Amino acid sequence: MDSSEFLGFLRTRSSVREYSDDELTSEEIASVILPAERAPSAGNRESWDVIIVTDESVKEGLFDAAYQQQHLLQAPCVFVVCANYVRSMSQYGERGILYAVQDATIAATYMMLGAHAAGLHTCWTGAFDEEGIRETLGLPEHIRPLVLLAAGRGHLPPSYAGRMPIGEHVHENIW
Ligand SMILES: Cc1cc2nc3c(=O)[nH]c(=O)nc-3n(C[C@H](O)[C@H](O)[C@H](O)COP(=O)(O)O)c2cc1C
Repeated sequence: MDSSEFLGFLRTRSSVREYSDDELTSEEIASVILPAERAPSAGNRESWDVIIVTDESVKEGLFDAAYQQQHLLQAPCVFVVCANYVRSMSQYGERGILYAVQDATIAATYMMLGAHAAGLHTCWTGAFDEEGIRETLGLPEHIRPLVLLAAGRGHLPPSYAGRMPIGEHVHENIW
């Protein structure tokens, strides 16, 4: 893939919030998860974990904790991507908190793009009550949920949300 094909691939991804209730196959679930294996991580400690949620009653718990965002109920699968603080802090101390958040965010991004490559649709969901997610999933103290990645087959073609001009993000040499 050359860089213009890569940009084309990225440009055809957008968040989707309405899904058909088709379940994902185990191959499709693998195509979301496997790219995360290649994600970079601080010290290669891979300080992230993911919980694959397909059970309706668990999804209801996620839905409630995420302020009842409908797409979490509709999506046949929600990948809950978490930072694993013990894995990173055992090597990096306090700095490991930041590294675990970065590791998990990169892993979630690879999953989102893996889903896109497999022809699936996703919605990265970050608005939720952390305690509610912890209770629903029985997360231990050192595991912090960061992303609920809803995934499925969208009803409608994704619509482009627009972006500010790239120049507004970019600074040269100094701020
Ligand atoms: C950190 C983060 C948190 C987000 N939280 C939510 C959310 O709680 N609910 C939602 O519907 N979309 C959420 N989104 C999706 C964004 O709204 C979406 O990515 C953005 O509007 C750009 O649209 P696009 O993904 O279609 O390009 C979140 C995205 C990110 C990166």
